[in-house]
Amino acid sequence: MTVASGDFPPLIRWHVHPDAAALAGPVCTRILAVARQAIAERGVFHIVLAGGNTPATVYRSLARHQEDWRNWQVYFGDERCLPVDDPERNSVMARDAWLGQVDIPESNVHVIPAERGAAKAAQAYASVIAAARPFDVVLLGMGEDGHTASLFPGQPHDGCEPVHAVHHAPKPPADRVSLGECVLNDAQVVLVLITGGAKHAAVARWKAGADLPVAHLHGRAGVDVYLDAAADCGAATD
Ligand code: 6PG
Repeated sequence: MTVASGDFPPLIRWHVHPDAAALAGPVCTRILAVARQAIAERGVFHIVLAGGNTPATVYRSLARHQEDWRNWQVYFGDERCLPVDDPERNSVMARDAWLGQVDIPESNVHVIPAERGAAKAAQAYASVIAAARPFDVVLLGMGEDGHTASLFPGQPHDGCEPVHAVHHAPKPPADRVSLGECVLNDAQVVLVLITGGAKHAAVARWKAGADLPVAHLHGRAGVDVYLDAAADCGAATD
C-alpha cells in the first residue's frame, strides 16, 4: 500500500451520523463548499462520482441546489459493462438522481464508455482521466467485502495503471471498468460513504488494519468516511 506522504498509515477521519438520511446533508454541503472554492480560485471543479446505491441521496440533495454547473467537470470512479441506458449503470443512477435535473452541459459529464467492453473502455478513459487530474473531490462507496469502486479483494492490479479493465468481479456484472488506486488517491478530498449494518464487518476490519481495497485510500490529505451508526457499530440493520 502506498501512502502519499511518509510511511505512517493514512489519515482517516470518521464522521458518524444517526442514519443514512442524516448523512446526505453534510456530504452535500462539503462537496458544494469545495466546488465553490475551486471555481472561485481556478474556474473549474473536478469531481469523481461513486457508483452503487448509497450516494443517490447525496446526488438528489445536490440536484436541489442552484450551482455554477457549467464549471463542474464530472467523472466516474467505476462503471459496469452494461448498455448505455441500462438502469444498473452508475452513470444512469447519477443522471436520474442529479445530473439530468440540473443545467450541466452534457460534455461536462465524462461517462466511462463501458458498453464498449472493459478493455476498450479502460483504454479510452485513461486519456480522459489524464487530462483531469488531480481531482478536487473523489466520492466513493464501499462494499461488504471492503471493495471500493471496482477494486475487489483478491484482485490485484498494477498500482500505476490509471484505469483498469475488471473481469470476474464478485459483484455483478463481472465485467467493469475502474479507476486505479493511484488515480482515486490523486485528490485533495476523498469522501467515502458507507451505510447499513451489512457494511459493519468491513468497517471493523478496515479499522483493525485489514488489507482491504478501501484501506488503500489516502488521498492527498487523508480520507473522510461518512457512515451511519449501523455501519459503524453494527446497530440494528435497516
Ligand atoms: C458499483 C460501485 C461499488 C459500490 C459499492 C457499494 O459499481 O457497484 O462502484 O463500488 O460503491 O459496492 O454499493 P452500495 O452503495 O450499493 O452499497
